[in-house]
Amino acid sequence: MNILKNNGLGSGFGWPLLALLLLSLTTFGDEASKTNPEERKPSVLITGANRGLGLELVKQYIEDDYLVYGTARKPDEADELKATGAQVVQLDVTSEESITAMAQTLEGKPLDILINNAGYFGPNKIGTKQDGIDTITRSEIELCFQVNAMGPIFVTQALMPNLRAGQQKKIINMSTRSSIISRPRSGAMGYRVSKAALNMVTSTLHGELFKQGFIVVSVAPGHNKTDMGTDRAKMTPEVTMPQLKKVIDELTRKQSSGFWYYDGKNLPW
Ligand SMILES: NC(=O)c1ccc[n+]([C@@H]2O[C@H](COP(=O)([O-])OP(=O)(O)OC[C@H]3O[C@@H](n4cnc5c(N)ncnc54)[C@H](OP(=O)(O)O)[C@@H]3O)[C@@H](O)[C@H]2O)c1
Repeated sequence: MNILKNNGLGSGFGWPLLALLLLSLTTFGDEASKTNPEERKPSVLITGANRGLGLELVKQYIEDDYLVYGTARKPDEADELKATGAQVVQLDVTSEESITAMAQTLEGKPLDILINNAGYFGPNKIGTKQDGIDTITRSEIELCFQVNAMGPIFVTQALMPNLRAGQQKKIINMSTRSSIISRPRSGAMGYRVSKAALNMVTSTLHGELFKQGFIVVSVAPGHNKTDMGTDRAKMTPEVTMPQLKKVIDELTRKQSSGFWYYDGKNLPW
């Protein structure tokens, strides 16, 4: 307190000044606070960015000189993400508290692109025996919906002020060809139905936001070698994510509400 008084900070306006100083030290520095699109870097937030496809997308956007926010459930353990130079934000997409805290951290920072990438497949790996109608449990289906469909709704809701302040106004939902209703397959009930629901999130967000200048799409990354994709996958994130980024870069308003493969092909619902 004495130090504050000696520096003239102990008077009526001292504490607000000190709070502002502390705030500026604890947020993401100058670049994130710039609001003039001519002066600031383009920005993107990618959920589930500590590994797999999300981590590779972070690397691609960093290489393109974006201001990148990468989310992780456990930032303390997200060493690879930190090493990219991205701003690491804690986020569990199933937690209202975590989503609110993320939004507070990003308050006032314009966001050009949101990539709802975090996803959950289920307890059994791709290519192994999946739960069928006789064994699937309610809690498993609920978790798939929480992460894959409800998560993107509430993350998007929380970031709407940032996205409205952004220039590109792109919302990208990471879906999968497994959600395509016209190609029936068995297994992964929770994953498939929750990703089909995510596609409806895309369509509904488009319905509401297109008039406000937004582009909202679902994308499918192809089968990739990640924890989720397993080693059975033939493609790697290093090959597919640069192509997916190009698709996102080149999205036009006409493509909004569509479902796009990582190589730019249009997919059926
Ligand atoms: N790989 C493929 O072949 C493939 C194919 C089609 C679609 N996709 C889709 O692509 C996206 C990324 O897949 P991936 O292969 O990179 O999967 P992954 O390697 O399993 O990574 C999943 C990511 O999502 C995060 N996550 C899971 N639950 C979360 C939650 N409740 N809150 C926040 N983050 C959460 C994980 O964080 P933790 O590390 O904390 O668990 C991790 O960062 C997913 O949406 C997936 O459905 C992948």
